[in-house]
Amino acid sequence: MFKKFFEQLRWKTLARQLRRPKGALGHKVASKMNEANEFLYYFTLDQMEIQNGHSILEIGFGNGKFFDKLFNRAQQLQITGIDFSDLMVKAAIENNETSIAAGKLSIVKGQSDQLPFADNSFDIVFCINVAYFWDETGKHLQEICRVLKPGGKLYTTIRTRESIEKMPFTKYGFRSYTEEDWKLLAHQHNLLYKKGVLVSEPAIEPEGNEVRSQSLCMITEKKSI
Ligand SMILES: C[S@@+](CC[C@H](N)C(=O)[O-])C[C@H]1O[C@@H](n2cnc3c(N)ncnc32)[C@H](O)[C@@H]1O
Repeated sequence: MFKKFFEQLRWKTLARQLRRPKGALGHKVASKMNEANEFLYYFTLDQMEIQNGHSILEIGFGNGKFFDKLFNRAQQLQITGIDFSDLMVKAAIENNETSIAAGKLSIVKGQSDQLPFADNSFDIVFCINVAYFWDETGKHLQEICRVLKPGGKLYTTIRTRESIEKMPFTKYGFRSYTEEDWKLLAHQHNLLYKKGVLVSEPAIEPEGNEVRSQSLCMITEKKSI
C-alpha cells in the first residue's frame, strides 16, 4: 500500500514539474527534457518553413537550450520565447546571454492564453510538448491566432494519444489529442488545418526501461480574412 502511495506521489511530482518546472528538481527535470526531446526539436524545425527575417514565437521553451538550433535555420530571425515558469525564464536567460545581448532573442514570462504581444506579430508560432497542459485549449488557440500574422503558421508538436497513455505520470493532468481533435479545434479558431506529420522517435531509456514514442507535428495556418 505504501509503495503504491509513494510511487503515485513520485509520478504526480514529475507531472507537476513537467507542467511548470520549479526549485532544484526543476533544473534536473529540464535537463532530462533536453535529452528526451532533442529529436522532437530537430523534427519540428524540419517541418517549419522558416525564411530570412521571420519573426518567431516559441511557447514553453523549458530551459531554452534549443534556441541556437533555430537561429541556424535562417538569417536575421527575430525570436521570442514565452514560458510561465520563473525558473525556466531565468535558466533560458542565462543560457542565451549572447543572443539576448545581440537583440535577436527576447525571453518573456507569461502564459499562452494571455499573450503580451500585439495582434499580427509573428510569422510562426510553435510549441513542443506544451498543449498537454492547456485546460481550455480554445483560449490558447484564440490568443495564438490573434498574434499570428494572416497566413502565419502554428506548429504544435505532441506525443500521440497512444504514446501518452503508456507514460505513468500522464494520468496526472495531461490532456492528449488526436489529429481529428486538432482539426476541429483549428476550425473553431480561424485556423486552417494544413497537415499532420507523424514520426517514430528513437528509443530512450529514462529509467533503464526502453521507451519508444510516436509524435505528431500538426500544422495550421491563420486564415487571411
Ligand atoms: C514539458 S515542458 C516542455 C519543454 C520543451 N518545449 C521540451 O519539449 O523539452 C513544458 C514547458 O512549457 C511551459 N508551459 C506549460 N504551459 C504553459 C503555458 N500555458 N504558457 C506558457 N508556458 C507554459 C512549462 O513551464 C515548461 O517549461
